[in-house]
Amino acid sequence: MTKISLPVNSPMLSPDFTYGVATASFQIEGGAGHRLASIWDRFCTTEGKIADGSNGEVACDHFNLWRQDIELIESLGVDAYRLSVSWPRVITLEGELNRAGVDFYLGILDELKRKNIKAFVTLYHWDLPQHLEDNGGWLNRETAYRFRDYVDLITKAFGDRVYAYATLNEPFCSAYLGYEAGVHAPGIVGKEYGKKAAHHLLLAHGLAMQVLAKNSPESLSGIVLNFTPCYPASERAEDKAAAHFADDYFNQWYIKPLFDGEYPELLSRLPAGHHPDIREGDMAIISHPVDFLGVNYYTRAIYRGDQTQDFVQLPAPEPITDIGWEIYPKALTKLLVSLNEQYPLPPVYITENGAAMADKLTDGSVNDLDRIDYYHSHLNAVHDAIEQGVDIRGYFAWSLMDNFEWAEGYLKRFGIVHVDYASQQRTVKASGIAYKNLISQRVANQ
Ligand code: NOJ
Repeated sequence: MTKISLPVNSPMLSPDFTYGVATASFQIEGGAGHRLASIWDRFCTTEGKIADGSNGEVACDHFNLWRQDIELIESLGVDAYRLSVSWPRVITLEGELNRAGVDFYLGILDELKRKNIKAFVTLYHWDLPQHLEDNGGWLNRETAYRFRDYVDLITKAFGDRVYAYATLNEPFCSAYLGYEAGVHAPGIVGKEYGKKAAHHLLLAHGLAMQVLAKNSPESLSGIVLNFTPCYPASERAEDKAAAHFADDYFNQWYIKPLFDGEYPELLSRLPAGHHPDIREGDMAIISHPVDFLGVNYYTRAIYRGDQTQDFVQLPAPEPITDIGWEIYPKALTKLLVSLNEQYPLPPVYITENGAAMADKLTDGSVNDLDRIDYYHSHLNAVHDAIEQGVDIRGYFAWSLMDNFEWAEGYLKRFGIVHVDYASQQRTVKASGIAYKNLISQRVANQ
């Protein structure tokens, strides 16, 4: 496919549907010498944790190249840019504002404002200050209060520059991948830890929502969750039960407390030692109303029942992307429609969607037709969800540019802009051009 198209009368071709591109601090900034260490700096020094042995010290050098990167964002014609703030860049060991770090973001936010690009700011995209991890990290309830304090200081410093705040990005990844599977920072392994970390993250979210309501009433405030819809391998009851268990464990665990003020029924089936430390009043804090829900979607997962384990995930069927994730846009429509049926959803933004592909830079261009195809099918899946009544206000491509893909290092490329890490040269891929054309078609449609 060479272009992205939507049905002519799609609400996604109306000028008030927001299109954006997304990034995260640790994945693009570099500039590591100008901030405190985060858990990802430490994790990267652990042998065998990052596929190519790399780290985030330079990354896309956005710390130095941010002006040109904002020009690049502008050149794509998007309405919005989703970025995250590096907590260890803006807060000192003593818990005060680090002026130089704050100024870095003020420069970016002011430039975005000048260019009329809405800033969607994520307050936590996984780079916890290492000194807080040394104190227990997300297994320590105190971290939630430190997050609240940081959010208080930074939102006052940002004033009215931010269109929308997301408290957390994908708390599932922080909790499960970081404190249970151990494949993300801080690399802690043990089934007893994941749900405890998750609860403190959700508490941090709720406490931050209280601060945002006070400090930034003009901004939208919400959270970004990732969903990997769980499908049974067959119609057999065991497979259905396995998929249901996995869905509660990986997906519903993070959304149900927000809208229903309680964890899924699964909680009662977990061994007592795996339970989170839920104190009186926590669930009311966690279920603070949100102005929007950010949904990140990449793929689905298929499960079968097993006699010895709660579920077994099957290998992803073809077609898959370069990171091994099945391309299955239908699950996105179904996910959005079922969330909308299940919960009293606020307006939804698709805050991330995109694909890692084995790109080739040839004669100064990347002809990533496979990625265009991915965007085309998933944007149409979003359209289908809107047709079925879901209030979806915007869509962000992950990612603006190739970057540090966590445990995969720089080996997996998600950008609609190619980055040559040796020269820091950016090249807009064919998918970037297709995305831009879709967006400009919308303006012409006005
Ligand atoms: C979700 C995360 O928010 C982002 O940081 C990551 O790079 C993408 N998924 C792709 O894995």
